[in-house]
Amino acid sequence: MIIGCSASVELARNIARRANDEFSPLLSEKFPDGETHLRFRTGIRGKDIALVQSLAHPNDKLIEILFAAHTARDLGARSVTLVAPYMAYLRQDKRFYPNECISARVTARLFRVFDRVITIDPHLHRIHRMSDLFRHSTRLSANSLIGEYIEEHFRDSLIIGPDEESCQWARKIAQHIKSHAVVLKKKRYNSRHVSIRIRGDVDLRTNVVIVDDIISTGHTMIETVKEAKKLGAKKIYCICVHGIFAEDALTRLRKAGAAGIISTNSIEGPTSKIDISPLIARSLCS
Ligand code: R5P
Repeated sequence: MIIGCSASVELARNIARRANDEFSPLLSEKFPDGETHLRFRTGIRGKDIALVQSLAHPNDKLIEILFAAHTARDLGARSVTLVAPYMAYLRQDKRFYPNECISARVTARLFRVFDRVITIDPHLHRIHRMSDLFRHSTRLSANSLIGEYIEEHFRDSLIIGPDEESCQWARKIAQHIKSHAVVLKKKRYNSRHVSIRIRGDVDLRTNVVIVDDIISTGHTMIETVKEAKKLGAKKIYCICVHGIFAEDALTRLRKAGAAGIISTNSIEGPTSKIDISPLIARSLCS
């Protein structure tokens, strides 16, 4: 049974339809003091359940899925899987400053209540494998879906990756559309300040698609759009797997000159035009 948690009800419904599974939205409300109240709408005893919850702006959503998982166990579910298309806290994967919390590891410890964790294009950097965090996990990638979207809508564009970390998306997507990728160099000063440079002599006088895993504050994309414009790019499109768009990132990115901003529905919102439910349904059925 696929359970749609508050952030991903539509995605959960699509997954259930594609996997031919029962669907039930979780009833999740807030008491006046902000505490979470939740209830399963149908009996789950003896069932294999998958909680679908994307974890952008995560804190309330984390409480919801942890409460739901423990409740499912109390109620006798046979197994409890977490489908978190966007996995939170992975970027805090080491102590950058003394005495910091390594949030990625704490989150993984909290997730021991799940039998299996499924996620899409997790931001793994210094922690290399999902198995270094979770006991039983599945890592999916939206690269081929993004490639298909680009082929259909922005054929003959040059793919740009804003930084070395985006290489894994930019190169794979470029291969998919039989194009090539230009990967730029990023320096991050803090969460709201980055600079982007292009290396070598690159001709960008064409339409370009900038691809990255996450758009959060939008600074990485905005600086890349500016650099691409400087180098003569014609139309500039931005595509990411996870469109968090913290604060007014979407407006600022449009103002910077992005002709189109597209994300998958790992996080549901106005830009989520690429449907990842087939990937997840296939993984749940395998
Ligand atoms: C970082 O390395 C990621 O791949 C993204 O580039 C980053 O998370 C984007 O963040 P922001 O939108 O805040 O610049």
